[in-house]
Amino acid sequence: MNYQSKIRVKAPATVANLVCGFDILGLALNDPEDIMEMCLSEQPGIRIKHTDGYDLPVEPEKNVAGAALIAFLQELKKDIGIDLSINKCIKPGSGLGSSAASSAGAVVAANYLTGNTFSNEDLVRFAMNGEKVASGVKHADNIAPCIYGGITLIRSIFPLDIIPLSGPPLYVAVIHPQIEVRTSDARQILRKEVKLKDAIKQWGNIAGLVSGFLKNDYNLIGRSLEDVIIEPVRSILIPGFDQVKRGSKEAGALGGGISGSGPSIFMLCKEKTTADNVQRIMSEVYEKIGVDYKTYITTVNYNGVRIEPIVKGN
Ligand code: HSE
Repeated sequence: MNYQSKIRVKAPATVANLVCGFDILGLALNDPEDIMEMCLSEQPGIRIKHTDGYDLPVEPEKNVAGAALIAFLQELKKDIGIDLSINKCIKPGSGLGSSAASSAGAVVAANYLTGNTFSNEDLVRFAMNGEKVASGVKHADNIAPCIYGGITLIRSIFPLDIIPLSGPPLYVAVIHPQIEVRTSDARQILRKEVKLKDAIKQWGNIAGLVSGFLKNDYNLIGRSLEDVIIEPVRSILIPGFDQVKRGSKEAGALGGGISGSGPSIFMLCKEKTTADNVQRIMSEVYEKIGVDYKTYITTVNYNGVRIEPIVKGN
C-alpha cells in the first residue's frame, strides 16, 4: 500500500456514441481534461473535496467518483482510506464525459496506489457505478475510452466486452454551448422502440464506422456518421444544431453530431485546417443565435487516464 505518495491524475474528456453507436462507441480527447489529486490514508473512509467551484455533492455515495471508489474498495477488501481532491475542467452536463472522467480517474488512481490489482476492464466496471449516480443508468461509452484511451467499442456491458479500435489520425472540432443538458433528461425523451428499417440503417452505419476506423478509410467514416434513431429526438434540445452540422460538412468535416447526450457538438476532420474552419463556422452560428459557447480543436487521446507523481514543491 503506497500511503506516502500523493499522485496527480489527468482524466480526459470523451465523446460517447460517435453519432450512430448509442451507448456502444466512444473516443477520448486530448482536451479538455479533469485534474485530481489522490493519496491513501490509514484512516478508513472516502473523503472528497472539489476545488473547482462546481456545486457537486461530496458525500461518497452521491458523488460519481465516490460511487466508483466504493465499488473499488468493496472488491479490494482492504481497510484503507482515500483522500481525493477534484478539479473539474470538463463542465458537468456538457456531453463531454464529465462524470466519466471523475469516476474513471478516481479508480485508475486508487488502483495505482494500491498496487494495480485490477484490470482495465475491472476498473470500467467500478467506474460505471459513477455513471449510475449521474444518469441513473450504467453505460460505459465514456468510461471505456477514458480509461483505455483511443476509440473503444463496448460490445456488451453485462458481461463487459470492450474492444479497443485503431483509427486514422483525426482532428476533432467541438463546440460546447453553455447550456446544460442532463443525461438523465436526454435519455428520458428517447423513444423506447425503433422501426426495423431504422435499425437496419443504424446497423449498417455502425458496422461501416467501425470498418472505416480499422481500414483508415476517411470516406467510409464520413458516410457512416449518420444517426436515424437518437439524433432526430435529441437535437431539438440543442439550438443551432442543424446549422452547425450543415455548415461543418460544407466546410469539409467528415461528419459528426451530438457529443454524448449533448449539448456539445463534435465534428471529425481529416486536416487541421478543416477543423479550424469548422470551429469558425460553429462559432458564427452561436454568435448569431446569441448563446455563449466554448470551442476546442483537439485530437484523439490514445493514453487515457494519466498518473503523475507529485514532486514536492509542485
Ligand atoms: N451513451 C450515453 C447517452 C452517453 O447518450 O445517453 C452519455 O454521455
